[in-house]
Amino acid sequence: MSVRRLAEEQPKSFAFTKKNLEWAQEQIAKYPEGRQASAVIPLLWKAQEQHGGWLPEPAIRAVAEMLDMPFIRVLEVATFYTMFALEPVGKHFIQVCGTTPCLLRGADKLMHVCEKKIGHQKELNTDLDMSWLEVECLGSCSNAPMIQLNYDYFEDLTPETMDKLIDDLAAGKKVKPGPQVDRQGSAPVGAKTSLTDGSLYDGSVVGSWKKDFDARVKAKAKEQAATEAAKPKETSPGEKDAADNPGKRAEAGKKPIKNGDLAAAGEKAGGPSVRKDATGPAGKGKGLKSVPGKGDKDEV
Ligand code: FES
Repeated sequence: MSVRRLAEEQPKSFAFTKKNLEWAQEQIAKYPEGRQASAVIPLLWKAQEQHGGWLPEPAIRAVAEMLDMPFIRVLEVATFYTMFALEPVGKHFIQVCGTTPCLLRGADKLMHVCEKKIGHQKELNTDLDMSWLEVECLGSCSNAPMIQLNYDYFEDLTPETMDKLIDDLAAGKKVKPGPQVDRQGSAPVGAKTSLTDGSLYDGSVVGSWKKDFDARVKAKAKEQAATEAAKPKETSPGEKDAADNPGKRAEAGKKPIKNGDLAAAGEKAGGPSVRKDATGPAGKGKGLKSVPGKGDKDEV
């Protein structure tokens, strides 16, 4: 980025033309009372346009007075943005982007061409009526390296095309802005490199994600059902005992099991036994069990 200073030689004064003054007042009126400073960039731009493409100090001062702003505030704006040229420029004013993407793609070589053919940057070549300046990113990085020539962008340049462009301008030939290679806008060079599947554009893939999603849900449900069916069935306690119920025992020619046998079996195993006096103490119902170590307990 070059140093930004006001030109050494300055005009004595600046005043908007009647037409430009009306235009400036329209711009100021767009902003609410007390916010007129917001019109500073359009006004500086119009002043530059009126003054042959560069912004002299009296124009900066005139804008500050119109907007009731301190001169230094307007000077800060004018010196910050490279869209404001602070020194006289040629009829053909070239701004070469020197920011990283353009630099990596050869912007330095374009600057060498400019230096060789036009001279030092910021110096007006009066023979060619041409000047050039290195600036920061102009927002066309996908078409790096690039330049701005007056109001137009020239992109995808090489030292050779840059050289030819300067020659054509000097010769008064018509030049074509935009990409200087076989590409439309910032589309891929040559042919498309992505999204090349024709089915993306004929409607055949519309809703296909849903079909795919439904099929996967269905397959999952089927798989789960098969897993469940393959699991061994758990038998309930009632079903287990069913083989030992009185009917089955009779069928198998076994003796029925008596309550007394069950009680005896319970005592033997240290389990609860059925009390002989099934009515139990006062206040307790039938069917009390004596639980060893726990006293009497209602049988549920
Ligand atoms: S870096 Fe050059 S246009 Fe962005």
